[in-house]
Amino acid sequence: MKSIQDIRLRFIGAGNMAASLMGGLLNKGMTASQITASDPGRNQRAYIESQFQIQTYGDNNAHFGMPDMVLVAVKPQIMKTVLADVAEVIRRNNPLVISVAAGITSCQINQWLDADLPIVRTMPNTPALIGQGAIGMYANQNVSHEQRQLTEQIMDAVGTSIWVDKEFEIDAVTALSGSGPAYFFMFMEYLQQAGQKLGLSEGNAALLAKKTAIGSALLAERSPESLQQLKDRVTSPNGTTAAALNSFNESKLETVIEKALKAANDRSVALSKEFD
Ligand SMILES: NC(=O)c1ccc[n+]([C@@H]2O[C@H](COP(=O)([O-])OP(=O)(O)OC[C@H]3O[C@@H](n4cnc5c(N)ncnc54)[C@H](OP(=O)(O)O)[C@@H]3O)[C@@H](O)[C@H]2O)c1
Repeated sequence: MKSIQDIRLRFIGAGNMAASLMGGLLNKGMTASQITASDPGRNQRAYIESQFQIQTYGDNNAHFGMPDMVLVAVKPQIMKTVLADVAEVIRRNNPLVISVAAGITSCQINQWLDADLPIVRTMPNTPALIGQGAIGMYANQNVSHEQRQLTEQIMDAVGTSIWVDKEFEIDAVTALSGSGPAYFFMFMEYLQQAGQKLGLSEGNAALLAKKTAIGSALLAERSPESLQQLKDRVTSPNGTTAAALNSFNESKLETVIEKALKAANDRSVALSKEFD
Protein backbone atom coordinates (compact mmCIF):
# COMPACT_ATOMS: atom_id res chain seq x y z
CA MET A 1 0.00 0.00 0.00
CA LYS A 2 1.40 3.41 -1.02
CA SER A 3 1.74 6.31 1.43
CA ILE A 4 1.95 10.02 0.61
CA GLN A 5 5.75 9.67 0.70
CA ASP A 6 5.48 7.52 -2.47
CA ILE A 7 3.31 9.70 -4.69
CA ARG A 8 3.68 12.59 -7.13
CA LEU A 9 1.20 15.39 -6.67
CA ARG A 10 0.35 18.24 -9.01
CA PHE A 11 -1.53 21.32 -7.80
CA ILE A 12 -3.50 23.36 -10.29
CA GLY A 13 -4.00 26.74 -8.62
CA ALA A 14 -1.57 27.66 -5.86
CA GLY A 15 -3.55 30.16 -3.76
CA ASN A 16 -4.48 30.10 -0.07
CA MET A 17 -5.94 26.60 0.16
CA ALA A 18 -3.19 25.03 -1.97
CA ALA A 19 -0.48 26.78 0.08
CA SER A 20 -2.02 25.52 3.34
CA LEU A 21 -2.09 21.98 1.97
CA MET A 22 1.51 22.25 0.74
CA GLY A 23 2.69 23.44 4.17
CA GLY A 24 0.77 20.64 5.90
CA LEU A 25 2.04 17.97 3.49
CA LEU A 26 5.67 19.00 3.87
CA ASN A 27 5.21 18.88 7.65
CA LYS A 28 3.83 15.36 7.27
CA GLY A 29 6.98 14.17 5.53
CA MET A 30 6.33 14.74 1.82
CA THR A 31 9.31 16.29 0.06
CA ALA A 32 9.13 19.35 -2.20
CA SER A 33 10.40 17.26 -5.12
CA GLN A 34 7.21 15.13 -5.00
CA ILE A 35 5.05 18.21 -5.65
CA THR A 36 4.66 20.62 -8.56
CA ALA A 37 2.14 23.43 -8.99
CA SER A 38 0.81 25.76 -11.65
CA ASP A 39 -0.70 29.20 -11.16
CA PRO A 40 -0.78 32.26 -13.40
CA GLY A 41 0.18 34.66 -10.58
CA ARG A 42 3.90 35.48 -10.77
CA ASN A 43 4.03 36.74 -7.16
CA GLN A 44 2.13 33.74 -5.86
CA ARG A 45 4.51 31.38 -7.65
CA ALA A 46 7.52 33.23 -6.20
CA TYR A 47 5.96 32.91 -2.75
CA ILE A 48 5.35 29.16 -3.13
CA GLU A 49 8.89 28.57 -4.41
CA SER A 50 10.58 30.57 -1.65
CA GLN A 51 8.32 29.29 1.14
CA PHE A 52 8.22 25.60 0.19
CA GLN A 53 10.90 25.10 -2.52
CA ILE A 54 8.13 23.57 -4.69
CA GLN A 55 8.61 23.91 -8.45
CA THR A 56 5.88 26.05 -10.03
CA TYR A 57 4.81 26.90 -13.55
CA GLY A 58 2.71 29.66 -15.12
CA ASP A 59 1.20 27.24 -17.63
CA ASN A 60 -1.06 24.47 -16.28
CA ASN A 61 0.21 22.05 -18.94
CA ALA A 62 3.92 22.73 -18.35
CA HIS A 63 6.07 19.88 -16.97
CA PHE A 64 2.94 17.96 -16.02
CA GLY A 65 4.91 14.70 -15.70
CA MET A 66 3.05 11.62 -14.47
CA PRO A 67 1.39 12.68 -11.21
CA ASP A 68 -0.53 10.10 -9.17
CA MET A 69 -2.85 12.86 -8.08
CA VAL A 70 -3.95 16.23 -9.40
CA LEU A 71 -5.35 18.60 -6.79
CA VAL A 72 -7.43 21.35 -8.35
CA ALA A 73 -7.58 24.41 -6.09
CA VAL A 74 -8.98 27.18 -8.26
CA LYS A 75 -12.16 29.21 -7.76
CA PRO A 76 -15.32 27.34 -8.79
CA GLN A 77 -16.18 30.00 -11.40
CA ILE A 78 -13.14 29.06 -13.52
CA MET A 79 -13.12 25.28 -12.95
CA LYS A 80 -14.74 24.52 -16.31
CA THR A 81 -12.19 26.58 -18.30
CA VAL A 82 -9.22 25.30 -16.28
CA LEU A 83 -10.25 21.64 -16.62
CA ALA A 84 -10.86 22.02 -20.36
CA ASP A 85 -7.33 23.45 -20.63
CA VAL A 86 -5.69 20.45 -18.90
CA ALA A 87 -8.12 17.74 -20.07
CA GLU A 88 -5.77 16.17 -22.60
CA VAL A 89 -2.74 15.92 -20.32
CA ILE A 90 -4.87 14.61 -17.46
CA ARG A 91 -6.51 11.96 -19.65
CA ARG A 92 -3.06 10.81 -20.74
CA ASN A 93 -2.03 10.23 -17.09
CA ASN A 94 -5.24 8.87 -15.59
CA PRO A 95 -4.53 10.31 -12.12
CA LEU A 96 -6.85 10.69 -9.15
CA VAL A 97 -8.37 14.17 -9.38
CA ILE A 98 -9.08 15.89 -6.06
CA SER A 99 -11.16 19.06 -6.10
CA VAL A 100 -11.53 21.54 -3.25
CA ALA A 101 -13.87 23.76 -5.27
CA ALA A 102 -17.20 24.47 -3.63
CA GLY A 103 -20.30 23.47 -5.57
CA ILE A 104 -18.63 21.55 -8.44
CA THR A 105 -19.84 17.96 -8.70
CA SER A 106 -17.74 14.90 -9.57
CA CYS A 107 -19.88 14.43 -12.70
CA GLN A 108 -19.19 17.99 -13.82
CA ILE A 109 -15.45 17.41 -13.32
CA ASN A 110 -15.47 14.26 -15.45
CA GLN A 111 -17.70 15.92 -18.03
CA TRP A 112 -15.37 18.93 -18.34
CA LEU A 113 -12.36 16.61 -18.57
CA ASP A 114 -14.25 14.47 -21.09
CA ALA A 115 -13.18 11.44 -19.02
CA ASP A 116 -14.32 8.84 -16.50
CA LEU A 117 -11.65 9.28 -13.86
CA PRO A 118 -11.47 8.65 -10.13
CA ILE A 119 -12.62 11.92 -8.56
CA VAL A 120 -12.64 12.99 -4.93
CA ARG A 121 -14.66 16.06 -4.13
CA THR A 122 -13.77 17.75 -0.86
CA MET A 123 -15.25 20.57 1.17
CA PRO A 124 -12.69 22.17 3.48
CA ASN A 125 -13.27 25.29 5.60
CA THR A 126 -11.15 28.35 6.37
CA PRO A 127 -9.61 27.01 9.63
CA ALA A 128 -7.76 24.64 7.26
CA LEU A 129 -5.55 27.68 6.63
CA ILE A 130 -4.14 27.18 10.17
CA GLY A 131 -4.26 23.36 10.09
CA GLN A 132 -7.58 23.18 11.96
CA GLY A 133 -10.00 22.48 9.13
CA ALA A 134 -13.08 20.26 9.18
CA ILE A 135 -13.22 18.56 5.80
CA GLY A 136 -15.95 16.51 4.14
CA MET A 137 -14.97 14.20 1.26
CA TYR A 138 -16.87 12.22 -1.36
CA ALA A 139 -15.28 9.65 -3.69
CA ASN A 140 -16.89 8.55 -6.96
CA GLN A 141 -17.06 4.85 -7.82
CA ASN A 142 -13.71 4.89 -9.69
CA VAL A 143 -11.68 5.75 -6.57
CA SER A 144 -9.73 2.78 -5.17
CA HIS A 145 -9.29 1.93 -1.50
CA GLU A 146 -5.64 3.00 -1.70
CA GLN A 147 -6.58 6.33 -3.32
CA ARG A 148 -9.09 6.95 -0.52
CA GLN A 149 -6.43 6.37 2.11
CA LEU A 150 -3.98 8.65 0.32
CA THR A 151 -6.62 11.38 0.02
CA GLU A 152 -7.31 11.11 3.76
CA GLN A 153 -3.62 11.56 4.47
CA ILE A 154 -3.55 14.63 2.21
CA MET A 155 -6.61 16.32 3.71
CA ASP A 156 -5.61 15.43 7.28
CA ALA A 157 -2.55 17.62 6.68
CA VAL A 158 -4.85 20.64 7.16
CA GLY A 159 -7.36 19.32 9.69
CA THR A 160 -9.76 16.47 10.34
CA SER A 161 -11.56 14.78 7.47
CA ILE A 162 -14.64 12.59 7.16
CA TRP A 163 -16.10 10.65 4.21
CA VAL A 164 -19.69 10.93 3.10
CA ASP A 165 -21.31 8.11 1.09
CA LYS A 166 -23.63 10.16 -1.10
CA GLU A 167 -22.53 13.20 -3.06
CA PHE A 168 -25.57 15.23 -2.02
CA GLU A 169 -24.24 15.09 1.55
CA ILE A 170 -21.46 17.46 0.46
CA ASP A 171 -24.14 20.18 0.30
CA ALA A 172 -24.92 19.47 3.96
CA VAL A 173 -21.20 19.52 4.80
CA THR A 174 -20.99 22.89 3.03
CA ALA A 175 -23.93 24.16 5.07
CA LEU A 176 -22.56 22.90 8.39
CA SER A 177 -18.76 23.12 8.38
CA GLY A 178 -17.95 24.85 5.07
CA SER A 179 -19.93 27.97 5.97
CA GLY A 180 -19.81 27.15 9.71
CA PRO A 181 -16.84 29.35 10.67
CA ALA A 182 -18.94 32.40 9.74
CA TYR A 183 -21.71 31.29 12.11
CA PHE A 184 -19.26 31.06 15.00
CA PHE A 185 -17.68 34.41 14.10
CA MET A 186 -21.13 35.97 14.07
CA PHE A 187 -22.05 34.38 17.39
CA MET A 188 -18.82 35.66 18.94
CA GLU A 189 -19.46 39.11 17.45
CA TYR A 190 -22.95 39.21 19.01
CA LEU A 191 -21.59 37.98 22.35
CA GLN A 192 -19.03 40.78 22.22
CA GLN A 193 -21.68 43.41 21.39
CA ALA A 194 -24.04 42.15 24.10
CA GLY A 195 -21.18 42.13 26.63
CA GLN A 196 -20.39 45.73 25.72
CA LYS A 197 -24.03 46.70 26.26
CA LEU A 198 -23.74 45.24 29.76
CA GLY A 199 -20.79 47.56 30.46
CA LEU A 200 -17.65 45.65 29.38
CA SER A 201 -14.99 47.42 27.30
CA GLU A 202 -14.76 46.41 23.62
CA GLY A 203 -11.37 44.74 24.18
CA ASN A 204 -12.46 42.77 27.22
CA ALA A 205 -15.74 41.68 25.63
CA ALA A 206 -13.95 40.54 22.44
CA LEU A 207 -11.34 38.60 24.40
CA LEU A 208 -13.92 36.90 26.61
CA ALA A 209 -16.08 35.98 23.60
CA LYS A 210 -13.16 34.43 21.68
CA LYS A 211 -11.64 32.62 24.67
CA THR A 212 -15.04 31.22 25.68
CA ALA A 213 -15.52 29.87 22.15
CA ILE A 214 -12.03 28.34 22.06
CA GLY A 215 -12.30 26.86 25.57
CA SER A 216 -15.75 25.40 24.93
CA ALA A 217 -14.65 23.90 21.60
CA LEU A 218 -11.58 22.28 23.17
CA LEU A 219 -13.63 20.97 26.09
CA ALA A 220 -16.22 19.53 23.67
CA GLU A 221 -13.43 17.86 21.69
CA ARG A 222 -11.60 16.41 24.69
CA SER A 223 -14.55 15.38 26.86
CA PRO A 224 -16.23 11.99 26.40
CA GLU A 225 -19.58 13.63 27.20
CA SER A 226 -22.11 14.65 24.54
CA LEU A 227 -22.72 18.30 23.69
CA GLN A 228 -26.03 18.13 25.51
CA GLN A 229 -24.40 16.69 28.67
CA LEU A 230 -21.74 19.40 28.60
CA LYS A 231 -24.43 22.04 28.24
CA ASP A 232 -26.40 20.57 31.16
CA ARG A 233 -23.27 20.59 33.30
CA VAL A 234 -22.98 24.41 33.05
CA THR A 235 -26.68 24.89 33.67
CA SER A 236 -27.74 24.84 37.31
CA PRO A 237 -31.51 25.07 37.89
CA ASN A 238 -32.71 28.64 38.13
CA GLY A 239 -29.16 29.93 37.59
CA THR A 240 -27.74 32.49 35.16
CA THR A 241 -27.07 30.02 32.32
CA ALA A 242 -30.60 28.64 32.62
CA ALA A 243 -31.95 32.19 32.30
CA ALA A 244 -29.96 32.74 29.09
CA LEU A 245 -30.85 29.30 27.61
CA ASN A 246 -34.54 29.86 28.34
CA SER A 247 -34.31 33.17 26.52
CA PHE A 248 -32.64 31.44 23.52
CA ASN A 249 -35.40 28.82 23.54
CA GLU A 250 -38.14 31.45 23.68
CA SER A 251 -36.54 33.02 20.58
CA LYS A 252 -36.57 29.55 18.95
CA LEU A 253 -32.81 29.48 18.35
CA GLU A 254 -32.96 25.81 17.29
CA THR A 255 -35.42 26.63 14.49
CA VAL A 256 -33.37 29.68 13.50
CA ILE A 257 -30.24 27.50 13.08
CA GLU A 258 -32.13 24.76 11.24
CA LYS A 259 -33.52 27.33 8.79
CA ALA A 260 -30.07 28.88 8.26
CA LEU A 261 -28.47 25.51 7.43
CA LYS A 262 -31.31 24.66 5.07
CA ALA A 263 -30.77 28.00 3.29
CA ALA A 264 -27.02 27.29 2.94
CA ASN A 265 -27.73 23.74 1.73
CA ASP A 266 -30.21 24.99 -0.89
CA ARG A 267 -27.76 27.66 -2.06
CA SER A 268 -25.03 25.03 -2.44
CA VAL A 269 -27.34 22.94 -4.64
CA ALA A 270 -28.25 26.00 -6.74
CA LEU A 271 -24.59 27.07 -7.14
CA SER A 272 -23.48 23.84 -8.81
CA LYS A 273 -26.23 24.38 -11.40
CA GLU A 274 -25.02 27.97 -11.98
CA PHE A 275 -21.45 26.77 -12.71
CA ASP A 276 -22.61 24.26 -15.32
N1 LIG B 1 -9.87 29.22 1.40
C1 LIG B 1 -10.69 28.36 2.01
O1 LIG B 1 -10.72 28.25 3.22
C2 LIG B 1 -11.57 27.44 1.22
C3 LIG B 1 -12.54 26.71 1.88
C4 LIG B 1 -13.34 25.82 1.15
C5 LIG B 1 -13.15 25.68 -0.21
N2 LIG B 1 -12.19 26.42 -0.83
C6 LIG B 1 -12.06 26.26 -2.27
O2 LIG B 1 -10.69 26.21 -2.63
C7 LIG B 1 -10.55 26.77 -3.93
C8 LIG B 1 -9.40 27.75 -3.88
O3 LIG B 1 -9.70 28.74 -2.91
P1 LIG B 1 -8.57 29.68 -2.34
O4 LIG B 1 -9.11 30.31 -1.12
O5 LIG B 1 -7.27 28.96 -2.28
O6 LIG B 1 -8.53 30.77 -3.53
P2 LIG B 1 -7.30 31.60 -4.05
O7 LIG B 1 -6.38 31.97 -2.94
O8 LIG B 1 -7.86 32.68 -4.92
O9 LIG B 1 -6.53 30.54 -4.97
C9 LIG B 1 -6.88 30.24 -6.29
C10 LIG B 1 -5.61 30.35 -7.12
O10 LIG B 1 -5.90 29.92 -8.44
C11 LIG B 1 -5.19 30.78 -9.32
N3 LIG B 1 -5.71 30.72 -10.67
C12 LIG B 1 -6.52 31.62 -11.33
N4 LIG B 1 -6.71 31.22 -12.60
C13 LIG B 1 -6.03 30.04 -12.74
C14 LIG B 1 -5.84 29.17 -13.83
N5 LIG B 1 -6.41 29.39 -15.03
N6 LIG B 1 -5.08 28.07 -13.64
C15 LIG B 1 -4.49 27.82 -12.44
N7 LIG B 1 -4.64 28.63 -11.37
C16 LIG B 1 -5.40 29.72 -11.53
C17 LIG B 1 -5.38 32.12 -8.68
O11 LIG B 1 -4.47 33.06 -9.23
P3 LIG B 1 -4.91 34.62 -9.29
O12 LIG B 1 -5.15 35.04 -7.87
O13 LIG B 1 -3.74 35.27 -9.94
O14 LIG B 1 -6.19 34.66 -10.09
C18 LIG B 1 -5.09 31.80 -7.23
O15 LIG B 1 -3.71 31.85 -6.93
C19 LIG B 1 -11.88 27.41 -4.30
O16 LIG B 1 -12.53 26.62 -5.24
C20 LIG B 1 -12.66 27.43 -3.01
O17 LIG B 1 -14.03 27.19 -3.24
C21 LIG B 1 -11.41 27.30 -0.17
